[in-house]
Amino acid sequence: MLRTCFPVAVTLLFLLSAVGCAPSSLPADEPTTASQEIFNKRLLPIFQSSKPSSCTECHLSGVELKDYILPTESATFASLVKAGMVDMKTPANSKILQFIQRTPEKSPLVRKEVREQEYEAFRAWIEAAAKDPQMAKAAARPIGPQLPDEVIRHARKDRVLASFVDNIWTEVGRCAACHSPDRNQKQVKEHGESVSWITLNDPEATLGYMLEADLIDPDKPEESLLLQKPTLQVKHGGGQKMVVGDRSYKQFRRFLDDYAAMTHSRYQSPDDLPKQNEEVSLVTDIWLKIVDVPKQYDQKLLQVDLYRQTDGGWSEYRVATADRLVFGKQNLWQETLSLIAPRESKWAEQISKKQLPPGKYQARIYIDQSGKLQKDYQQTLGPEDFIGTVDFESRWQPGYGKMTKIVFPKP
Ligand code: HEC
Ligand code: HEC
Repeated sequence: MLRTCFPVAVTLLFLLSAVGCAPSSLPADEPTTASQEIFNKRLLPIFQSSKPSSCTECHLSGVELKDYILPTESATFASLVKAGMVDMKTPANSKILQFIQRTPEKSPLVRKEVREQEYEAFRAWIEAAAKDPQMAKAAARPIGPQLPDEVIRHARKDRVLASFVDNIWTEVGRCAACHSPDRNQKQVKEHGESVSWITLNDPEATLGYMLEADLIDPDKPEESLLLQKPTLQVKHGGGQKMVVGDRSYKQFRRFLDDYAAMTHSRYQSPDDLPKQNEEVSLVTDIWLKIVDVPKQYDQKLLQVDLYRQTDGGWSEYRVATADRLVFGKQNLWQETLSLIAPRESKWAEQISKKQLPPGKYQARIYIDQSGKLQKDYQQTLGPEDFIGTVDFESRWQPGYGKMTKIVFPKP
C-alpha cells in the first residue's frame, strides 16, 4: 500500500511546490480551448459593440447580431443549437451563417467588410465548438430577438420604404416645382443646392437624404423640417403648402411617427403597430375650383370628396379628394385633386395613370369651421362639418389652365 501511494504523494508534492514557486505561470481558470479563444476574441466584441451589425442594412430595428450571443460560450452554443440556428452535423449550413450572408443589392464596401468579419468569426467559432460534444449540453436560454415576427417584419427596411412611398413620395409632386433637381434651377441659384432634397425617380435615395440632412427628426417627428416648412410653422421660401391636420399632413405624420417609434424600438407586440391606411392616394395635375365661397369661410380648411356616377348610383367610395384653405377675399377655393382608392381594389391599380374618367360626379363639401384639425391632427371631417353637395360633369383635363369649375352650394 505504502509503496503504491508514495509516487502519488510525491507527484502531488511536486505539483504543489511548482504552484508555490511560480504561481503566475498557471492560468487561474481552466485553460482556454481553441473555440473559446475565438469566442472571446471575435464574438464577444460583437456582443459588446455599440456599432450596428450587418443586419441593420435590411432591418431598421428589432434585429441585431448581438441578440444571438450570450455572455458565455457554452450558453451561446447550446442556445443556438436549441433555437435551430446552428447545425451541429454540418456547421457550414447553420442558419445563423445564412442570416449573416444575406446582402442587399446595393451594399457599400464598408458594410460588406463588416459582414465578412461577422461571417468569418461565427463560422470559425461554430466549426471549432461543434467538435466538442459537451458544448451543446450546457443549459439553453432564449436567444435571438425576443420580438414577435410581425414586429420584426414591420421594421424591415423594404417595408419602411414601401410606407415612405405610400405616405410621402406620392405627395412630393406638390413640392417638385421647387425641390426636384429637374425643375428648380431658379431656386438652387437663390437658395443653394440644399433645396434639391428630392432625388429624381428614387424614393430610397430621397429618404436617405432626408435623414442625412435632418429634414426628418426621429426623436421629435412632429418637429421635422419636412412638416414645419410647408405648414409655415417655420419660415418657408415656398409659403404655405400644407395645413396641420390636412390629408397630406396626416400622411406625413403617419410615416414620421412610425419611423420614430421603430428607431426607438417602441413596438413590442403586434397590437402596438399602427393600422394600415385603408386608402391609397396619388397626387395629380387635375385642378378643381369652387367659386362663390362665402367670405365667412376665409382661411378655413375646405375638403371636397368626389364620387363618380356608376350604374348603381354614386360610387360607394370617394374616387378623389382635395383639401386646402379658402381664399375668402376672392370667394374662392382651388386645388389639385388626389386620386383615392381602397387599398388593393381594381381602382387602386388604375389610379397610377393619374387620370379621372370623364363623366358625372358628385362633390361632397366639408369645412372645418372650428379649426379642430389644427388642435388635433388625427381628427377627421365628418357629418357635423358637412356643407352640401354639387353634381356636375367634367372631362378632367390636367393643367392649371383646364381647371374644372363648380359653384359653392346654396344654403
Ligand atoms: C438583405 C437583407 C437582409 C439582411 C442583411 C438581413 N435580413 Fe433578416 N430578413 C430579411 C427578409 C427579407 C426577411 C423576411 C423573411 C424571409 O425572407 O425569410 C427577414 C427576416 C428575418 C427574421 C424573421 C424570422 C424569419 O426567419 O423570417 C429574423 C429573426 C431575421 N431576419 C434576422 C436577421 C439577422 C440576425 C440578420 C443579420 C445577421 C439579418 N436578418 C439580416 C432580410 C434581411
Ligand atoms: C414654390 C416653391 C416651393 C414649393 C412648392 C415648396 N417649397 Fe419647400 N422650399 C422652398 C424654398 C425656396 C426653400 C428654401 C428656403 C427655405 O428654407 O425656406 C424651401 C425649403 C424647404 C425645406 C428645407 C430644405 C433645407 O434643406 O433646408 C423643406 C424641408 C421644404 N422646403 C419642404 C417642402 C415641402 C414638404 C413641400 C411640398 C409639400 C414644399 N417644400 C414645397 C420653396 C418651395
